[in-house]
Amino acid sequence: MSPDRSGRKQAKEEGSAARRLLARSHAGSAYAAGEAILEVRDLVKHFPLTQGIVFKRQVGAVKAVDGVSFDLRQGETLGIVGESGCGKSTVAKLVTHLEEPTSGTIRYKGEDITKLSGRALKAVRRNIQMVFQDPYTSLNPRMTVGDIIGEPFDIHPEVAPKGDRRGKVRELLDVVGLNPEYINRYPHQFSGGQRQRIGIARGLALRPEIIVADEPVSALDVSVQAQVINLMSRLQDEFGLSYIFIAHDLSVVRHISDRVGVMYLGKIVEIGTEEEIYEHPTHPYTQALLSAVPVPDPEAEAVRERIVLEGDVPSPANPPSGCHFRTRCWKAQHRCVVEEPLLIVPENFARSTPQEAVHHPSACHFAAERTAVLPRSTD
Ligand SMILES: Nc1ncnc2c1ncn2[C@@H]1O[C@H](COP(=O)(O)OP(=O)(O)O)[C@@H](O)[C@H]1O
Ligand code: SF4
Ligand SMILES: [Mg+2]
Repeated sequence: MSPDRSGRKQAKEEGSAARRLLARSHAGSAYAAGEAILEVRDLVKHFPLTQGIVFKRQVGAVKAVDGVSFDLRQGETLGIVGESGCGKSTVAKLVTHLEEPTSGTIRYKGEDITKLSGRALKAVRRNIQMVFQDPYTSLNPRMTVGDIIGEPFDIHPEVAPKGDRRGKVRELLDVVGLNPEYINRYPHQFSGGQRQRIGIARGLALRPEIIVADEPVSALDVSVQAQVINLMSRLQDEFGLSYIFIAHDLSVVRHISDRVGVMYLGKIVEIGTEEEIYEHPTHPYTQALLSAVPVPDPEAEAVRERIVLEGDVPSPANPPSGCHFRTRCWKAQHRCVVEEPLLIVPENFARSTPQEAVHHPSACHFAAERTAVLPRSTD
């Protein structure tokens, strides 16, 4: 095919994919609650490690995301938790198309959106928005709040025609609990929590269906974290949003998450409902993370059994063989060195454990329930 014809064919394909994606999202074709709006399968992102200044050659790869699969269901919040460097932000960037995956697929409402460009990519980006971790650096200090929140309308003028924009921005400020009169102020005139509200308003501007929030409260004071989480919960109900909510601490995501996936070194090691993960964790890593969370009740705190993880997270450029967690796991045996555990409902539970809550996927050869001590959030 001549370059011209192949270019036209590509543009035509992009155009029809874009039309399908827009038709599915903003023309009222709502997905029923609980249906998978996003299906991620075997997602891999390897960043090449190169050597040499002039003739760069690849000498390895940082396996930031190394085979991640999950569904995001309509209207739910999927929490993703794990220590720094385990690949959470990379997952967020892959899902929002800020990074291209090395392999794997992402389907949105049944449509494969893994490799899109042009208009089709633009249509998907409108529907899947990101809220960033650090409201201090993610907002341009030289732009007014009105310009920051209204900027997405430059790319999607169909959402807010020029004459209508300031009105729309005022509405958004009101929706996130900020005074619409602040529209001409600059980011430095706001507190950290207010800045994250501005980031959320910007994320909402295009009326997306999915918001991927990458540690949206990690940079905030504990007292402000709950306010921002409560705001996000309210907006979820109001706008029928589905969330991927990332945090490095299991206690932060409990209140907002319907399901939680725990990540370690580029992989999800355990995934389940809020009750399954917090009340019936079966993976040693989840159990260790939960045991590190202090309990407000002093008596319970005094007898709390802590699992101390030895050492640091190994480098994702050179992960351990077999189970990635084996170098820090107190239960590791020879099998863990030679055989990688799959993320499945462990056989011993599937056959014999009467408690339904234990029957959730866990990537451990020796998964066993260990009662958690983390109390339910009281706010
Ligand atoms: N653009 C990049 N180039 C090379 N390595 C990267 C890049 N982005 C992330 N990484 C590496 O990938 C790993 C996972 O990073 P990240 O997804 O940011 O983890 P998290 O958000 O869980 O802290 C880290 O080792 C990080 O250094
Ligand atoms: S597979 Fe082995 S090393 Fe990995 S979590 Fe289970 S017991 Fe620990
Ligand atoms: Mg991160």
